[in-house]
Amino acid sequence: MPATVVVGLDWGDEGKGKIIDYLAKDADLGARFNGGDNAGHTVFVKDQKFALHLLPSCVVREIKAAIGNGVAVNPDVLKREINEIESRGIRVDLTVDERAHVITPKHIEQDIEKNKGSIGSTGRGIGPCYEDRIGRRGIRMIDYAKEHPEFKRFLGDVSLLVNDYIDKGKNVLLEGAQGTLLSINWGTYHYVTSSEPTAGGACTGLGIGPRKIDKVIGVTKAYPTRVGRGPFPTELGTDEQTINENKDDQLTQEDIDKANHGDPYYTGKFLRKRGAEYGTTTGRARRTGWFDAVAGKYSCRINGVDEIALTKLDVLGGLDRLNICKSYETENGEITDVFPSDLKVLENCKPVYAVNNGWKDISNVVYNVGLPNEAKNKVGDYAEDYVANIENILKAPVTMIGVGPERNQIILR
Ligand code: IMP
Ligand code: MG
Repeated sequence: MPATVVVGLDWGDEGKGKIIDYLAKDADLGARFNGGDNAGHTVFVKDQKFALHLLPSCVVREIKAAIGNGVAVNPDVLKREINEIESRGIRVDLTVDERAHVITPKHIEQDIEKNKGSIGSTGRGIGPCYEDRIGRRGIRMIDYAKEHPEFKRFLGDVSLLVNDYIDKGKNVLLEGAQGTLLSINWGTYHYVTSSEPTAGGACTGLGIGPRKIDKVIGVTKAYPTRVGRGPFPTELGTDEQTINENKDDQLTQEDIDKANHGDPYYTGKFLRKRGAEYGTTTGRARRTGWFDAVAGKYSCRINGVDEIALTKLDVLGGLDRLNICKSYETENGEITDVFPSDLKVLENCKPVYAVNNGWKDISNVVYNVGLPNEAKNKVGDYAEDYVANIENILKAPVTMIGVGPERNQIILR
């Protein structure tokens, strides 16, 4: 592993928390490099659910944790999360970079004010904090701690720390928050977040050179989701339908039948309900869609992805047919597999689908150290086809498959 970056390939919420939690069992240090408490990483350990926003997901494993200069830190949230997790018997050993910028109450006010009728941010003050940073008006943790000395004990030089771990040959996990399609540089601008969630962000957000990174793991969900506004070519149903859907509404057999008769909204609802697609940070219903390999290929390129972790494959079980978007048809009839930069073009793209057979249930396929290789690899025939199709288009191997929320519900290939 030495230094492995884990990044999201979609619009966030790919299930990075689960993958990081799995990889962290062999890690000595876990470091977050972008975003702030707009993130929501859920980790399930036995009957306990941990919803983390600012702390790196690896804290659950009680390994050394770090927050890099690329992260926007809300000190109140930092204090609250540390207290909460320590109250559950977990020891937190954390270093926050002195150069990281502080989110102030004013940033949150500005974010909420701007949000009205806008892109639908999480309202955590993320955008205004990064604006002040770029505008050279920001407050860094090192200066904040002069007025709030209770934070001094967490502060340090994270670049020094991470480089030291890497140089000593220790295993380091570099944790991205959000996803490539929300990147300030590479996302569907201006429907993006204000930080750099890609592998490049690990270098600038932690202070390490690109050649120190050994492996890039891209995490992508078996079906993409998006919260907030912005283009989503393979969306099932519409943005409005998702927003207006009653959260407590159950998925009925009638809904499933409609989904299997090709009704996009009910297919989207199926994924939302089965996948519990509601925001960890805001509770908002997530828009759902078919796997978008055009976007996936783009994200693999931007990050230089070596391996793919495909999450929540079990959620697709029970749908008769599954689509994978191979290319887009643009408004003027061109077929392309290059993700467009022009949002107007993207908004009007129609997905061209390859159709896969569905499967019933694979959630009980549990990774077990004692199993022979063939058994470990077997996820069921049609599920295998689905995974193979994704690998063929993205040109990267799927080395991990999530088949349920539990820590052991992961297939290694
Ligand atoms: P902000 O990061 O709060 O400024 O929000 C900007 C956009 O990114 C909005 O569409 C948010 O819904 C989205 N976003 C921010 N963080 C996350 C995340 O962790 N998961 C999914 N979407 C996110
Ligand atoms: Mg999330």
